[in-house]
Amino acid sequence: MKSILKKIEKIGIIPVIKLEEIEDTLPLAEALYEGGLPCAEITFRTNICADAIRLMKGKYPEMIVGAGTVLTKVQVDKAIEAGAEFIVSPGFNSEIVEYCNKKDIIITPGCSNPTDIEQAIKYGLDVVKFFPAESAGGIKMIKSLSAPYSKIKFIPTGGINSENLKNYLDFDKVIACGGTWMVPTELIAEKNFAKIKVLVKKAIENMLDFSL
Ligand code: 3PG
Repeated sequence: MKSILKKIEKIGIIPVIKLEEIEDTLPLAEALYEGGLPCAEITFRTNICADAIRLMKGKYPEMIVGAGTVLTKVQVDKAIEAGAEFIVSPGFNSEIVEYCNKKDIIITPGCSNPTDIEQAIKYGLDVVKFFPAESAGGIKMIKSLSAPYSKIKFIPTGGINSENLKNYLDFDKVIACGGTWMVPTELIAEKNFAKIKVLVKKAIENMLDFSL
């Protein structure tokens, strides 16, 4: 497993972020960092994504910052140029995976069935996003997939919250969980970064419960 993924494994949770306004980037980064989650997946669902990655990484170089919802090679280039350390895509797109491999940037493509995982193995990957986690069968499905594909590790994302986080992280093939539950777009829109920081701390408490 590559070193950035090992760092993500240590953190345990990837906040998945949709930023509409660039001015929200640093207050949000501060809430994540001070709350105890020095990690962010900023999604290409808005056109300030690359600028936000650049800004966050510039101010908090020790944070692990990646790009999410990457659907094109142009977005891969923009993300790398902005300083993204990992790329996430919702599905398995062989063109994107091949391009990321060529650029030597980590890609965790969305996989939700055996066919996707065999594609990931073919392209030399050992960690994939399991998406959409809850809708695609949850931890039960991950356990079923892990039987034949025992070398693959998962980052489940989609429908994860403080209630079900523990179920996923308890399984040793899950290195981290992604999600928006501690960074909801409504709170970002309200600029309620104090509340986000509380949710971040709560997410960490929920995560630590599993290892006690
Ligand atoms: C997404 O890409 O939207 C992520 O999977 C987050 O899903 P969530 O909002 O259910 O956490």
